[in-house]
Amino acid sequence: MAIVELRHVGKRYPGSESLAVSDFNLVTKDGEFVVLVGPSGCGKTTTMRMIAGLEDHTEGDIFIGGVNVNGVAPRDRDIAMVFQSYALYPHMTVRENLGFSLKLKGHPKADVQKRVETVARILGIDKLLQRKPRELSGGQRQRVALGRAIVRQPKVFLMDEPLSNLDAKLRVGMRAEIIKLHRTLGVTTFYVTHDQTEAMTMGQRVVVLRDGRAQQIDTPNQLYQQPANRFVAGFIGTPAMNFLTATLGDGRAAGQGFSLSLDAAALRAAGNNQTLCVGVRPEHLHLAHDDASSRLTGTVEVVEPLGAVTLIQARVGGATLTAQIPPIERVSMGDTVTLSCDADRLYLFDPKTESLLKGITLQAAP
Ligand SMILES: Nc1ncnc2c1ncn2[C@@H]1O[C@H](COP(=O)(O)OP(=O)(O)OP(=O)(O)O)[C@@H](O)[C@H]1O
Ligand SMILES: [Mg+2]
Repeated sequence: MAIVELRHVGKRYPGSESLAVSDFNLVTKDGEFVVLVGPSGCGKTTTMRMIAGLEDHTEGDIFIGGVNVNGVAPRDRDIAMVFQSYALYPHMTVRENLGFSLKLKGHPKADVQKRVETVARILGIDKLLQRKPRELSGGQRQRVALGRAIVRQPKVFLMDEPLSNLDAKLRVGMRAEIIKLHRTLGVTTFYVTHDQTEAMTMGQRVVVLRDGRAQQIDTPNQLYQQPANRFVAGFIGTPAMNFLTATLGDGRAAGQGFSLSLDAAALRAAGNNQTLCVGVRPEHLHLAHDDASSRLTGTVEVVEPLGAVTLIQARVGGATLTAQIPPIERVSMGDTVTLSCDADRLYLFDPKTESLLKGITLQAAP
């Protein structure tokens, strides 16, 4: 186990004008599970490869277990990686695949056997040790790839989209297994995904990356309740947050088809802004009562009954809003609906910088 620290870390690929990763700062806790999430090309893999030493960082410093690893070769960093394309050796059995790296390092045979069997038991592949990779399912192969990393008992795990080759159901299962595994082993882990649900469910802390810059590093709850800016707000949460451009006046934020009453906290946060970007999550919109002080009126374009909830998309002025409503509400395409949102559930963003002016207050645990 080890604390990993990235201090002003940046990467400029040769010949490239811009930085693929810039000014990345993070100190993990010992044994922490950190998720890197963000759209394609935002620098997730580059960051992982710099921690692993497979790619030189061109700015800043990286420390593993308190040691500056600038210039330290990958094999000397005591790190194990699991990647999306995990290429097992096809001619070797599961047992040989699992033990290969230990054998290379000259570990005694009995020790290799013991470690391989322990890991195989933890991963539930102990009955498959004599098989070749082609005789395994996708999920089983993924487990062998994980096992190969675990047997090495590294200080740090780096996992770059290790589940993206699996189908949706298997992914959810493996997700839970990786979390359990992390609880058992307690090894500091960096996990890359572009799936925000995976990030939220797995990460003790989540780094949201955009264009090579960390937008926010926080716990899943904090990212959801107090996103640093409009990008994070739109990225975290499914369905995504709705955004409206509003004009301020008379203690209200209004625009075509909507007028929202603001509470004292929102008015304070809005300051002297004439216009604002207002964010509201689908789960905070509800069908309005006649006396609702905040109203958004629109035409229903799509109704998606998901069973536990129903999602509707409604055209309000120039925007399409998504609302999550109880399945018992009867709403059809083409209906005119009036939606409402409680004032303390509104998010406000600076229209120019897009930073958060007001989020929603964290609910204290009961
Ligand atoms: N070897 C390379 N040479 C030059 N540019 C590169 C190289 N590898 C990556 N890049 C660029 O660096 C940026 C970050 O790439 P990176 O692979 O880290 O993104 P990512 O977040 O892992 O994306 P994805 O989700 O698609 O895997 C991209 O703009 C990419 O084009
Ligand atoms: Mg990548």
